[in-house]
Amino acid sequence: LPWTEDVSWLLEKSLAPESICLLRTLGERAEKLGMRAYIVGGIVRDLFLGRDNLDLDIVVEGDAPRFLKSWEKDGLRVSVHERYKTGTVVFPGGKKVDVATARREFYEFPVAQPKVFTDSLKHDLYRRDFTVNAMAVSINQSTWGVLVDFFGGRRDLGKKILKVLHNLSFVEDPTRVLRGIRLEQRLGLALEDNTLRLLRSCVRGGLLVRLSGFRLRSELELSFRERFPYPAAKRMEELGVWEVLFPGLRLGETGRRTFRRLGAFLGRISRDFPDFRGRQWLAFFSALLMESPENIRLAAIDRLNLPESERGIVVKCLSELGAVEHELGGRSGPSNSQIYAFLRDADPAACLFWSAATGRWRVRRRILLYLTRLHRTSSLLKGRDLIELGYGATPRIGAILEKLKILRLDGILENRDDEVRYVRYNFPL
Ligand code: CTP
Repeated sequence: LPWTEDVSWLLEKSLAPESICLLRTLGERAEKLGMRAYIVGGIVRDLFLGRDNLDLDIVVEGDAPRFLKSWEKDGLRVSVHERYKTGTVVFPGGKKVDVATARREFYEFPVAQPKVFTDSLKHDLYRRDFTVNAMAVSINQSTWGVLVDFFGGRRDLGKKILKVLHNLSFVEDPTRVLRGIRLEQRLGLALEDNTLRLLRSCVRGGLLVRLSGFRLRSELELSFRERFPYPAAKRMEELGVWEVLFPGLRLGETGRRTFRRLGAFLGRISRDFPDFRGRQWLAFFSALLMESPENIRLAAIDRLNLPESERGIVVKCLSELGAVEHELGGRSGPSNSQIYAFLRDADPAACLFWSAATGRWRVRRRILLYLTRLHRTSSLLKGRDLIELGYGATPRIGAILEKLKILRLDGILENRDDEVRYVRYNFPL
């Protein structure tokens, strides 16, 4: 068939042996149940681009719930959405696989909840966003590694273009405007001429205005979670997306510079802040707003309908920059322990924002010092060491450890012996 091609060599070359083994297992099971299974979407696209992609999306021609439930007998954790005929199975080692039933979605009117009908792979692929995302590779034993490419995704990857499958793509799902821009920048593709025209008319036609705050927030989060969010932000501005989403917003020179610095600092921030990745986008969002007047900022924050915790971080980013500069900008101080005490209760996303937004290098250097090193400093002695030294298990131990930490931050106590000596002398038993 003209739209198929054997790419089994590419699977073997690009995927880790464990992934191959998992795919073969999935394919064998599908075959046994009389279904056909495919990997689809981003993972296929990224195979051709030589990019790692750990998201395993499977589509079956058959019935995904039945396919999924068959793994329950093997003792695996399975969850099923009967209504959408989709679900997830978790393999030993924690690998999560999403499985959907090949389906055709029928959009009654723009931005409606899609209704689900069981149908063939071709229809399933046709309802997707871009040709490069609408390829599938068979994982059944008998057809292992056969690429199914009805819409020329492979050709478009070769031409380095991002092209919609049909003219209603953005109307059916306006979040594709943001996805398109994100993918274009991340993958180094260019929006194809007609696609760009459709995207522009979606922006001008006001379809983005109707997106819910939640969906918009999710897309922005994804955009600002990219490794380098700046190029997409710049492209959004060029295409008038920001103006439509947040009327009156002004991304000036300071905002741009902050954006670029945020991208550059990201890689340096310790990975040990819990859930920092999930909140880093708030720093970028703050950068987007920082040069706009108060009323525009507040309207933008309201537009996203953020949960209180996230809203609080953005407001703090924007309102406390001056105070942070005042506190951390001294010529000779503050000491490390003072920096620590000042920043310890702030969200790391806010710290990151301040470090990028400030024009004062001392402030920037001190915040980065906190984010890379100071935040994880602790005393060398632990609670149980103090108990061994004869201290009772009382709150006093906490106070001693806190004191040791401060002295260590400031370089006054350098090693364990220093700490033992200090404790014995200053906190008599
Ligand atoms: N998709 C779509 N329209 C959307 C979102 C997703 O058509 N608004 C389709 C695309 O074909 C995409 C697939 O659903 O490939 C899976 O979506 P997702 O996992 O979000 O995208 P990926 O392409 O895998 O992108 P990423 O690499 O950012 O995860």
